[in-house]
Amino acid sequence: MTALTLSTSSAAALRADAIVIGVAKGAKGLEVAPGAEAVDEAFGGKLAATLETLGASGGDGEVTKVLSPEGVKAPLVLAVGLGDTPADGEGFGAEALRRAAGAAARALSGTKKAAFALPVADVAAAEAIAQGALLGAYAFTVYQENGSGKAPLAEVALTGAKPRDKAYKAAAERATAVAAEVNRARDLINMPPNDLHPKSFAAQVQAAAKEYGLKVEVLDEKALAKGGYGGILGVGQGSANPPRLVKVSYLNPKAKKSLAFVGKGITYDSGGISLKPAGHNETMKCDMSGAAAVFAAVVASAKLALPVNVTGWLALAENMPGGRATRPGDVLKMYSGKTVEVLNTDAEGRLVLADALTRASEEKPDAIIDVATLTGAMVLALGNRTFGIMANDDAFRTAIHETATEAGEQSWPMPLPAELRKGMDSPTADIANMGERMGGGLVAGLFLKEFVGEGITWAHLDIAGPAFHEGAPYGYTPKGGTGSAVRTLVRLAEKTAEGGLV
Ligand code: BES
Ligand code: MN
Ligand code: ZN
Repeated sequence: MTALTLSTSSAAALRADAIVIGVAKGAKGLEVAPGAEAVDEAFGGKLAATLETLGASGGDGEVTKVLSPEGVKAPLVLAVGLGDTPADGEGFGAEALRRAAGAAARALSGTKKAAFALPVADVAAAEAIAQGALLGAYAFTVYQENGSGKAPLAEVALTGAKPRDKAYKAAAERATAVAAEVNRARDLINMPPNDLHPKSFAAQVQAAAKEYGLKVEVLDEKALAKGGYGGILGVGQGSANPPRLVKVSYLNPKAKKSLAFVGKGITYDSGGISLKPAGHNETMKCDMSGAAAVFAAVVASAKLALPVNVTGWLALAENMPGGRATRPGDVLKMYSGKTVEVLNTDAEGRLVLADALTRASEEKPDAIIDVATLTGAMVLALGNRTFGIMANDDAFRTAIHETATEAGEQSWPMPLPAELRKGMDSPTADIANMGERMGGGLVAGLFLKEFVGEGITWAHLDIAGPAFHEGAPYGYTPKGGTGSAVRTLVRLAEKTAEGGLV
């Protein structure tokens, strides 16, 4: 990953390939943001005028490049738009800084070192800029022959922060740890499904567990059969790549609370016998984004040594239409003992999650949060950038929504209307895996709810919209896997450690 350093030198004096400054939309036109004073001086106070002449407006994520004058060591000045100038007395918001830093880092791919001289009003601003730069610099180039993709910006030197101040140091460390884990999730999501299947995913978790001192247990297909995990097995049985249930725990002796994160890990979702049509399966390698987020959040909790216990449950399977595949009409006996009539094999996520939720409940954590690319209906409801939050506790749902916002992730609370349950009544089994089409995201949430242990606080994040970005990159969001929900989960673990969540 891109390296981050906090620098004491003035931005203009820093030896780098480029220097990044901020510009904003002021009441009377373009304004240069704080942090760029020395650069403006080198321009004889004409930096704003120069950039305006080049067409800059200060709009979100806008990038304008200009050659440096005498007095600035770096040969290039890159001005990035921060949006509207904040009201008097207020600083730039964390998300505006994160996005601007991300856009700048992205525009500098192929460059070795950049100095970031964006407005650092406080520790939170420094962290946002650092995180944005490290996330924006991300590129997935593993499968590209040398030279066909530009290398990401290699080094970020942040100016304006206090490198010897403990709080700034901690912020830089947190930004690095969280960005590295978001990028870990992105790598897993972007990895092609012929290389990332349940077994190889589990192997990656085992390797990370060794590196970070995590406890890990992998149930293979034999152990799953022995344990009666009918949901996970039923989804995985049509594939030549058998399923896995991975339990990965970060345990801290000082912990007073424990969280369980459960992730949907369908390494490829073809739909199974209810095969998806062409046009709906090209991005379905992303269907393990929930499991990737959970895995990354557990590692991040360990890196940050949070005083909380965090256990990740990764329900890994490949949904394929093989000769042994589950048929529409089959009845599965779930780990909970309930029976499920599978009406549509493409509603597979809820089947693997149900078993994992029941299993996670046995350990009586203080709360369970599942993360899943669960329904197209949620994408229709909330679009491509916002995940839906459902829960069996209104206050918990609100807390998660607030936490996600703090973490810089867009989300929205969704209901679990009781009347949608009867649509899943089955003449044959205890429940069917499909119900009414209308409100399909909520129907899926209601299905999951039935597999959560009695009295356990639970929330479900449907990240089907934001998990995989198909459009042009923006801010710190690249094309492909986004690492959606990682930052929210980490923040939830931090809050729990502070005693502020459950
Ligand atoms: N993995 C899909 C949901 C999905 C859709 C994720 C778009 C990312 C982007 C899920 O397994 C699925 O196929 N859901 C069905 C459920 C239906 C058959 C009840 C859906 O949403 O159409
Ligand atoms: Mn599906
Ligand atoms: Zn799926």
